[in-house]
Amino acid sequence: MAKFVTSGGAAEDGKKPDPTILRSKEEMRSWSRACRQDGKTVALVPTMGYLHDGHLSLVRCAATRGDKVVVSVYVNEGQFAPGEDLDVYPRDPKGDLAKLAGLCDAIFMPEALYSSDDSHQTWIEAQHLQQPLCGGSRPIFFRGVATVVAKLFNIVEPDIAVFGKKDYQQWLIVRRMVQDLDFPVEVVGMPLLREEDGLAMSSRNVRLSAEDRTGALSISRGLTKMKDAVQQGAKDAITLRQQLVDEISLSGGDVDYVEVVDARDLQTVKTIEQDVVVAVAARYGGVGGVRLIDNMEMSP
Ligand code: PAF
Repeated sequence: MAKFVTSGGAAEDGKKPDPTILRSKEEMRSWSRACRQDGKTVALVPTMGYLHDGHLSLVRCAATRGDKVVVSVYVNEGQFAPGEDLDVYPRDPKGDLAKLAGLCDAIFMPEALYSSDDSHQTWIEAQHLQQPLCGGSRPIFFRGVATVVAKLFNIVEPDIAVFGKKDYQQWLIVRRMVQDLDFPVEVVGMPLLREEDGLAMSSRNVRLSAEDRTGALSISRGLTKMKDAVQQGAKDAITLRQQLVDEISLSGGDVDYVEVVDARDLQTVKTIEQDVVVAVAARYGGVGGVRLIDNMEMSP
């Protein structure tokens, strides 16, 4: 079994030494266990790579929560249905390694997390929480996410795991899985980050044409207008939702869903009297185009 030296924290400039690259489950587990033996806590940031500033903010948050930070980079085939964008999902392992230099202690970049003979049988499902929103149009997505996150928790054995609330439903499902299945992991949710023009940061944004990118700004514009209206007392979720659908459609987006849901259980809300999340998925560029998600938390 590989032995890892885990002592040594951040350098004086606040930067960490070059991260250890771990390719196998065994190496990953040994590294994590060595950290624990040294009395250090481990914070995990799971990603699918092609890292942007949103991911890096999760990594910085992890560094404030755990003594040692590990970032996993793995495009999880288990959460893509046939015909989805697995093959064209952007990848840049070299760029990811460069972006993570100085920010984390280890990078887990496995070749594969599932056995190659198609024999994977066990999936985690989150019953009600996985059905609405992205679960409606991507029926296997959340079982794939929950399963790979459970695998990562079992391999990395982190004390803390940091997720972005851009994938609000994913964050809720992971929190629930941890509670229901007694994973000894603290799940931290970080607010969504936006580009300067308001577009929610996403690895898929690079695939947008200039025209579609301009159109896609209608999503954050419409969400912001809606949040202002809710803060000024608007309660009629049905009308507000329709205004947002119209704004996105007029900008050239094919709306997959726009929903006003209770922030705790994702149930659709007709009258806004509690904390809600307005969640959006829309595709730009027609069939085979780019599917974007966004959301905004709103309180009456
Ligand atoms: O949010 C993501 O990038 C992925 O869904 C995750 C959590 C890394 C699982 O593959």
